[in-house]
Amino acid sequence: MKLFDVYPLFDITPVKAEACTVWDSEGTKYLDLYGGHAVISIGHSHPHYVRKITNQLENIGFYSNSVQNPLQKELADKLAKISGCNDYQLFLCNSGAEANENAIKLASFVTGKKKIVSYKKGFHGRTSAAVAITDNPKIIAPVNETKNAVILPFNDLKETEEELKNKNVAAVIIEGIQGIGGIHVPNKEFLVELKKLTKKYEALLILDEIQSGYGRSGKFFAFQYSDVQPDIITMAKGMGNGFPIGGVLIMTEIEPWYGMLGTTFGGNHLACSAGIAVLEVIENENLIENAEKVGNYLMNKLAEISNEYEIRGKGLMIGLEFKFPIKELRQKLLFDYGIFTGVSGQNILRLLPPLSLTIEEADQFLNAFEEVYNDISTQFAQD
Ligand SMILES: Cc1ncc(COP(=O)(O)O)c(C=O)c1O
Repeated sequence: MKLFDVYPLFDITPVKAEACTVWDSEGTKYLDLYGGHAVISIGHSHPHYVRKITNQLENIGFYSNSVQNPLQKELADKLAKISGCNDYQLFLCNSGAEANENAIKLASFVTGKKKIVSYKKGFHGRTSAAVAITDNPKIIAPVNETKNAVILPFNDLKETEEELKNKNVAAVIIEGIQGIGGIHVPNKEFLVELKKLTKKYEALLILDEIQSGYGRSGKFFAFQYSDVQPDIITMAKGMGNGFPIGGVLIMTEIEPWYGMLGTTFGGNHLACSAGIAVLEVIENENLIENAEKVGNYLMNKLAEISNEYEIRGKGLMIGLEFKFPIKELRQKLLFDYGIFTGVSGQNILRLLPPLSLTIEEADQFLNAFEEVYNDISTQFAQD
């Protein structure tokens, strides 16, 4: 049977990985500055993580959400402690889109309203409500089109308030740092004012931390750079270090009722043990501090190499916007230097390495990047 061909693929077959290194089927070694799309948080195949999941599987891998599963509570308690988000309840699911879908549904249940405000260049997933508020018409099928989705200019308080004044907005959703849109950080004041406005007009504030959360930004959640308390926080990617798990943090004032949300696989034993192992490693190895330190180092060194590109981001969520298309630059990094990186549009390079990236590994990337950049930028200057 043919696979449904929706992904353009590199001709590389990874077969083994450890920390920030990946090996392919030919034995070629790669440095992973992409983290499998911001998913690898604690490093590939971390021994504690492997042991914990293996032990769990030898006991019980799955039962349904109709019985006691103390691992869910253990995960919730560890998450509260490490994130500092104590005044929340946890709902577990399986992916980022599912987390946002549930967050949107919750906001609508709680407020009794229908509209959701989101922002230009935002990405929130591919399920029906999540894709409707994603700023990419190409992935919105006719069945997903809805007047309830309102996409406004990023960081624009005036337009947001105009919309909220209609009093039919259930929630405003914003990424802690926009990822797929090209690493755009919301203004601090914008988030603070957004919280005030949503409160004033009886809407909820949802922080989508699916890409920017779990320590990637140098704080547990990127919104923690501002003094705001969202009503709902969504997370996924780094949460399971590759094991599919997502979650919604819901402020304690929102009361659940039986059947309000649900899932077959969400919160299963294996997913919880993966999630607990991730939090233990983040804490024991000080990975949030490492993300901040190595991220700052990378950004400072990148600024020394040239001032011809813009550097954006926080921690190990870094975007470089060039004046020329970067297809060749990215390919050279991958095939000549063995370094995986990410992309956004034509001109933006995205760095999303495991949070355990060392200074030595950062230097390996910087040396390769400097050579490739000097080579390619000279070519573009001549053209
Ligand atoms: C900010 C953000 N929200 C939601 C999603 C959707 O997550 P998933 O692909 O797990 O459904 C993504 C995925 O890239 C994302 O970056």
